[in-house]
Amino acid sequence: MNPILEEIFEKRTTKSVDGRTVKVNAQISRHEGELIRKCIELTGAEVSLEVGLAFGTSAMIICESLKKTERTRHYIMDPYQMYEASYGGIGLNNIRKSGFGDIIEFIDKPSQLALPELAQRNVTVDFAFIDGWHTFDHTLVDFFFTDKLLREGGIVILDDTDWPAISRLVSFIDSNRSYEYIAGTPPRTYKRNVSPLKQAVRSKLRNITDKRHCTLPRHGATAFRKMSEDHRNWDHFQGF
Ligand SMILES: C[S@@+](CC[C@H](N)C(=O)[O-])C[C@H]1O[C@@H](n2cnc3c(N)ncnc32)[C@H](O)[C@@H]1O
Repeated sequence: MNPILEEIFEKRTTKSVDGRTVKVNAQISRHEGELIRKCIELTGAEVSLEVGLAFGTSAMIICESLKKTERTRHYIMDPYQMYEASYGGIGLNNIRKSGFGDIIEFIDKPSQLALPELAQRNVTVDFAFIDGWHTFDHTLVDFFFTDKLLREGGIVILDDTDWPAISRLVSFIDSNRSYEYIAGTPPRTYKRNVSPLKQAVRSKLRNITDKRHCTLPRHGATAFRKMSEDHRNWDHFQGF
């Protein structure tokens, strides 16, 4: 395995651009990495996109897995990558050190601006990974524009689908859009400085709500295949 990825997964550290060891506080799990690899293999993807770069963990896995041809390209967008206080360019540096510098295009903008720009450029992708700003509406916008870029038969993975906001988006996709559920990874615990008791109560409530709203299993990350372009009537709505 790529030694940079190995360090991130084993020690949860990586190197800053000037070589210091820094903590990695945002990255996908090994399970999610495996799901990405499988989905890229399933689609034979050559062109992909990713929302949210952080330290480059998912980006390195995507770049490793893409089929290498003249078309091969990975589009990445993240408005905080170059901020010293956030990632200080570490994600991009890790990608370059891994030898993938010439297949990526990094867009230093938020996804809500970068994705429509790619659509205007008529970019088409075979695979997409959405792991950016995790509010319901933000992730919905990411999904909406990703769908415009994704070819029929292509796969999109949404990360953190065990979070309430993203799990509701999964329900929307499942009930309203022409996407087929493929697979997912085990859920990760959702905690934000709350006591174990509160966490347990929330988890029970969430299970009840999830069951009411979503027929799909609760996953850490969920993969969907695009079955067709959007042929719904202009006034279509299915509750979710
Ligand atoms: C959970 S991290 C992504 C981790 C990454 N997938 C990995 O495995 O290394 C979320 C990322 O989304 C980025 N982000 C936040 N808002 C964004 C936006 N509007 N557009 C694109 N990226 C955004 C953050 O800067 C952060 O790097």
